[in-house]
Amino acid sequence: MNIDDLRRLARARLPRVVFDYLDGGAEDETTLRANRQALDDLRLTPRLLGGGHVDLSTEIFGQRYAAPFLIGPTGLNGIYWPDGDLHIAAAAAEAGIGFTLSTASNTSMETIAERVAAPRWFQLYPWGKPDFSQALIERAEVAGYSALILTLDSLVGGKRERDLRHGFSHEIRMSAQVVLDGLLHPRWLASVWLGGKRPRFENLERFLGKGASNAELADFTRSQRNPQFSWDDVRRIRKQWSGPLLIKGIICPEDARLARQAGADGIVVSNHGGRQLDGAPATVSVLERIADQLEDGATLLLDGGIRRGSDVVKAMALGAHGVLLGRAPLYGLAAGGREGVDRALAILADEMERTMILIGCERPRELGRQHLAGVERALS
Ligand code: FNR
Repeated sequence: MNIDDLRRLARARLPRVVFDYLDGGAEDETTLRANRQALDDLRLTPRLLGGGHVDLSTEIFGQRYAAPFLIGPTGLNGIYWPDGDLHIAAAAAEAGIGFTLSTASNTSMETIAERVAAPRWFQLYPWGKPDFSQALIERAEVAGYSALILTLDSLVGGKRERDLRHGFSHEIRMSAQVVLDGLLHPRWLASVWLGGKRPRFENLERFLGKGASNAELADFTRSQRNPQFSWDDVRRIRKQWSGPLLIKGIICPEDARLARQAGADGIVVSNHGGRQLDGAPATVSVLERIADQLEDGATLLLDGGIRRGSDVVKAMALGAHGVLLGRAPLYGLAAGGREGVDRALAILADEMERTMILIGCERPRELGRQHLAGVERALS
């Protein structure tokens, strides 16, 4: 029926260590909960007889999509379902919505490009020495990725205590607990662990060679973190990438300004789904201030806690041009593979369309503050 149902199905199918990686946040998970709470606290104004010809299609960077929600970048999608990245990319293509592939994906950017003919973006982590990002940027360009999202909120990993308690860090290492948990979740064990190929960081294989073990690839991702990354490095990447560049992880209006100054075409207001700085504010609570100070022409996206079509409407009413989906399609993938992702996207589109009719708005770009009631109280 809804995304929360898919989450429940995902929890039933996945071993605890895998579900917690997908579902969890940093430390006390206050930011994770705040993202949802702030959306729930926003009220929409019902308007009668506003016309029923809703068209959700939306243009972003000159490309028309069927809806203003896009698949955001998430790493390790192969631990929920074999070839998880491919299933999500194919579902997005069929639904006509945008798709972003993570640096930490399990399917290489070249394979996605060969197998799914649809517009797609690449997300870059600012890891390692400049030649690391340069190599990924050049590959993304050759493989036809149209926009680059540079994620800057993860120079160190958040303290994700669920993962730490399970001993999970970028890969599943065999332990008695994991084996037992796997046996208790035989559908996952059969498909992901015993069935297909084990998930690997395929984008990174070229740096270590095809023969690198999973443990070596996981060590590589950890060793590549570069907490000294600076705005000058962003300017360097801006010069290397000729297409639209978005900076992801912005919560503070001043950082939005610095991102634009460094040459970004757009920003993603994000706290990484509550997985990095616990204590960071909910993304919708800072959105309006950031929207107010961004000039026309800059693209403003948001993510964090989007679980209902009405959440997309609320974010757009506060000034976003679109939203990225993180966990919502992943719950679908983990619950039922490709079919589950299709279902998640269909649920969100259906809910969004109903909401638009009930608030009397036919086009997402016409959404504005007038569609929200009591916004001052909710955001104070
Ligand atoms: C993420 N996120 C993320 N972001 C990114 O830039 N690169 C990545 O590889 C990942 N990986 C990742 C894995 C998992 C399992 C999750 C849940 C999230 C963050 C993601 O892009 C997005 O910012 C949040 O997920 C949005 O919040 P919701 O929609 O999950 O609440």
